[in-house]
Amino acid sequence: MNGRERAEVLLKIGEKFYPPREIVERAWVKDYDALYEKSLRDPESFWAEVAEELFWFEKWQKVLEWEFPHAKWFVGGKTNVTYNCLDRHVREGRRNKIAYIYLDEENRERKITYGELLELVCRIANGLRSLGVGKGDRVSIYMPSSVEAIAVMLACARLGAIHSVVFAGFSEGALRMRISDAKAKVVVTASYTLRRGRKIDLLPTVLKAVEGLDFVQHLIVWDRDGDLTESEGLVDLEELVRTSEPYCEPEVLDAEDPLFILYTSGTTGKPKGVLHTVGGYMVQTYYTSKVVFDLHEDDIFWCTADIGWVTGHSYIVYGILANGVTSLVTEGAPDYPDPGRWWSYIERYRVNVFYTAPTAIRMFMKYGEEWPSRYDLSSLRILGSVGEPINPEAWHWYHKHIGRERCVIVDTWWQTETGAHMVTTVPSYATKPGKAGKPFFGVIADVVDRDGKRVPPNTVGVLVIRNPWPSMLRTCWGEPERYEKYWRSIPGNVYNTDDLASYDEEGYIMILGRADDVINVAGHRIGTMEVESALVDHPAVAEAAVIGKPHEVKGESIKAFVILKEGYRASAELAEELRLHVRNELGPIAVPDEIEFVDRLPKTRSGKIMRRILRARELGLEIGDVSTLED
Ligand code: WT7
Repeated sequence: MNGRERAEVLLKIGEKFYPPREIVERAWVKDYDALYEKSLRDPESFWAEVAEELFWFEKWQKVLEWEFPHAKWFVGGKTNVTYNCLDRHVREGRRNKIAYIYLDEENRERKITYGELLELVCRIANGLRSLGVGKGDRVSIYMPSSVEAIAVMLACARLGAIHSVVFAGFSEGALRMRISDAKAKVVVTASYTLRRGRKIDLLPTVLKAVEGLDFVQHLIVWDRDGDLTESEGLVDLEELVRTSEPYCEPEVLDAEDPLFILYTSGTTGKPKGVLHTVGGYMVQTYYTSKVVFDLHEDDIFWCTADIGWVTGHSYIVYGILANGVTSLVTEGAPDYPDPGRWWSYIERYRVNVFYTAPTAIRMFMKYGEEWPSRYDLSSLRILGSVGEPINPEAWHWYHKHIGRERCVIVDTWWQTETGAHMVTTVPSYATKPGKAGKPFFGVIADVVDRDGKRVPPNTVGVLVIRNPWPSMLRTCWGEPERYEKYWRSIPGNVYNTDDLASYDEEGYIMILGRADDVINVAGHRIGTMEVESALVDHPAVAEAAVIGKPHEVKGESIKAFVILKEGYRASAELAEELRLHVRNELGPIAVPDEIEFVDRLPKTRSGKIMRRILRARELGLEIGDVSTLED
């Protein structure tokens, strides 16, 4: 189904689920409607009140400075995110409270307290400083989800250095592009990551990726088995930790100093380096964690994302630590060694709030409810969904077989660019399966046509945001014009999310998928252009076009149409070679499931490939307007 068809099916659904009383009673927000209205009457006072819950070295002079399309939040405010994530808790009696429970595929467990994490972060920060890293320097992090990786991120934040985490599933080409674009002074990696019982080497990939990049001054390695030789000129992370001082003053940073860059795919060109800043990002990730996941002191939280994506940044690291709760961090596959892995953790650690992606839920649906039914999941209270639209079947399965009909589902819509939740319900509010819900406090969301005109209810349009919010991206690293585009592509000075959506009579927003040439494969954003470029980079390929196809588990899968150069013959072997080539360039998540060799591609008169037509043909849909088609 494409967005529009899905809309038709879902528009018929009006079913509503009301939260259990116990959940409403303990909720931070009991009356969404009243608080939403208050937040819009005066968004600046609303966000200022939230910001007051956190620590600032110096208070801001002005909450918001909005010079379209550039926002500054908490202007003049001085803080450090790590102070709020660590020191504050240590000072407030949480020194011995567990911050993270890390688990690998063999259930090896590592617990670290807030006090220990603060010390680890300080030691790494001092170590980085001794290598010449300071405020504003970029540090690329290519590591598996682990306490070590999180500590390196926080160590950067401690110093005011800008981290750029690269998902450890990306390959050499993708990594090299991200390191070069950010001009990283230091790269931090691990010897390997674990996947399905295998060690996947990371260091050789990094060594190739940084070849010839002379701005990279140091390579730090978390030598997990202690078996690397020293001859390679690497810095050993553990050694750095051991030899550095245990305390490091947090750098007093401006609210608008950069915190991190995270690359994400767009319609055209190379991935964009989305830049987030210290103050606003901290405030909105803190507050959304608190009220959307309804976190209280003794809660155990678990977000299954990888720290390489924004979900991991905001809801494993910053927003969650800012709330001082205990959370789980896991490395490896969800269904390895068996499909009971996740449910056994919920039982063992009495997880209260669980946050995952629809693609994972659909995968577990296929394994069958026998797996979760073997475990005691009665600790669960709130179930979160993120990354792609959750289809009603998956919603119901999640609600019944994981939530046992006692939990509330929050379907949180947001993006790398928005930094934190933007459309969702809070746990005390009624939900509708398949509909993300309502705009978050202080956010004005709308669904409009290409001219910026609001569409009627139950009609497909583009989701836009009408006003600035604290955790919004501030720019695209080195490409300010790409930042401007978000706010200038639809009339009316609105932020274009590039997602299709509709709203119903009660104002519930339903997200229908991307409006641009971005494919959402298992919750990962992949630009058609990136895959096409990787294909064309192969000597046999003259031209390539890539589309997303609906996929039962992954949401979408990638199909490529390829025109070969003179002298090359189509074959299954060549298709396999091309798949391998994309894997090497970009990584396993970007590999096309299908490759079809063709003689021609539909193009506009100006030579642009019409992916829409390829897609319609592939899915047997109406082709629609072809008046611009060349041939
Ligand atoms: C795109 C952003 C937000 C963190 C993970 C992805 C899709 C995200 C939902 C949701 C429907 C969703 C959108 C969005 N998306 N959450 N709850 N319902 N779609 O971050 O990689 O920046 O991707 O993911 O299409 O634009 P991202």
